[in-house]
Amino acid sequence: RRFLQNFGRITLILVLGSTGAFLYVTRQATHPGDQLPDDPAKPTVVVLGSGWGATSFLKNLDTEEFNVVVVSPRNYFLFTPLLPSVTVGTLEPRSIIQPTRYITRHKKRRVAVYEAEAQDVDPIKKTVTFQDLSDIRGAAGSVTIPYDYLVYAVGCENQTFGIKGVTEHACFLKELSDADKIRTKLLDCIETAAFKDQPEAEVDRLMHMIVVGGGPTGVEYAGELHDFLIDDLKKWYPEVADRLRITLIEALPNVLPAFSKQLIQYTESTFKENKIDVLTRTMVKDVTDKSVIVQDANKETREIPYGLLVWATGNTSRQITRNLMTKLPAAQTQRRGLLVDDYLCMLGTQGIYALGDCTATQYAPTAQVASQEGIYLAQMFSKIGQKNKLERQLAELRASPNAVAEEVEAVVKKLNRASKQTPFHYSHQGSLAYIGSEKAIADLPFFNGNFASGGGAAMLFWRSAYISTLYSVRNRTLVMADWAKVKLFGRDVSRE
Ligand code: FAD
Ligand code: NAI
Repeated sequence: RRFLQNFGRITLILVLGSTGAFLYVTRQATHPGDQLPDDPAKPTVVVLGSGWGATSFLKNLDTEEFNVVVVSPRNYFLFTPLLPSVTVGTLEPRSIIQPTRYITRHKKRRVAVYEAEAQDVDPIKKTVTFQDLSDIRGAAGSVTIPYDYLVYAVGCENQTFGIKGVTEHACFLKELSDADKIRTKLLDCIETAAFKDQPEAEVDRLMHMIVVGGGPTGVEYAGELHDFLIDDLKKWYPEVADRLRITLIEALPNVLPAFSKQLIQYTESTFKENKIDVLTRTMVKDVTDKSVIVQDANKETREIPYGLLVWATGNTSRQITRNLMTKLPAAQTQRRGLLVDDYLCMLGTQGIYALGDCTATQYAPTAQVASQEGIYLAQMFSKIGQKNKLERQLAELRASPNAVAEEVEAVVKKLNRASKQTPFHYSHQGSLAYIGSEKAIADLPFFNGNFASGGGAAMLFWRSAYISTLYSVRNRTLVMADWAKVKLFGRDVSRE
């Protein structure tokens, strides 16, 4: 009995303790305190973007020594690794975003956040021009502000290779609105296929979902779509569910070229079991509103009808980035993106630091790279802030008639330390991808080699890795609740 009493007490303490801690953390997160006002004597850092690079920089930046301005057309951070899950309703859109102000309002000094699109960067005058291009614009028009430092993290846009019809007819998968559009269009195709007396050929077309690009985005989307078919479509649309076909088209000889061979084979065989057709060595050449024209390895072309087309063929630079490059033709010679030095300083400029997908470096354009670069830059800015502070201190000491030599020397030493910067070093933590039917693939660095694994255990690892990297307790709670909701009630098939 005493054991049971003690067990009960300990359980009660643990439950009360963790509830208290949870409530404390959430209260702190939702009740930001007062912030220091702008200080005209401090340098201004303008941050362009609110994605992986910019957010990781902001989160880790000590703002005491800077006035910070954030400009981004999106007033939130999007956790892209879980975006494919939104396309079929496994996760709700708001579960994987974090308002930028939830981050900036917790900073020591006030951070100005503008929902606007940067249109021009002048690296000579050191200014940024931006404009609110949202539906409601007010009377402000375009604004130009000066910067001392510019943190350039605007990411990339979707690559179409100029193929006709892609922009008009395909759905992309980069932004939250894209996932929403896919979900709506997918359900529209299914409802239309189930419409009374729909001709057989039209049912087949509407129920044919094509994914172009066998990189991780295309593969993860195809996997999610398969889950939707098995878990939900069969239950709620039995009359058309068996007609659903998923085709993944990839120009190269295999999907997921960046993963290890064994995982490529595992993915391709899982897709085969799941009846996802993978057309490799096949290139989409043209897109119309109802079909794609493909060319295979023998240069033969054919037309494939589709209901929904998802285009995931990688990245290309944004217009603003291309404009910036043309202003510095001697230093910026890579079309792929901005060239930076080992300290992420954009070549040919002073005070512009570029990170993430908009740069052309030896690293892949991934969230992992962008977020590590953001942390690195925040640490570098801490040193710059510290250096500025010490320089002020040194000037005051030297101007003072009572200055003690040892004191001056100590400050000089600290100043030398703060002036030393170490180059950026990327540490690869591995690659993960979800491939459907509760299976994932994991390519993890292991001592000096590689550990590759695919299946249910990898999927548990995939889930726990992403839960722990989600930005806030709020996001973690919402994502876990969505997963539980889908297990209990299935996905919502209503079309908004
Ligand atoms: P983004 O995160 O794209 O941020 C760019 C920001 O700039 C956005 O806030 C945008 O609104 C803003 N912006 C755009 N234009 C302007 C402008 N003119 N002025 C100001 N701001 C502007 N990587 C992984 O490592 N693991 C994964 O599992 C993974 N999964 C992914 C799944 C999907 C579906 C996608 C699309 C990508 C995935 N990635 C993953 C890649 C990863 O999302 C990118 O590498 C990462 O987002 C790059 O970060 P970034 O900060 O450079 O750009
Ligand atoms: P990607 O560049 O990795 O893959 C695009 C694929 O499309 C390529 O394999 C290419 O051969 C193919 N392709 C191009 N044109 C084609 C055409 N006309 N017809 C048929 N196929 C064509 O692009 P993706 O998947 O969008 O990824 C972008 C970046 O984001 C990558 O660096 C990737 O690593 C990262 N990412 C990582 C994820 C993860 O780690 N789980 C998930 C999603 C993206």
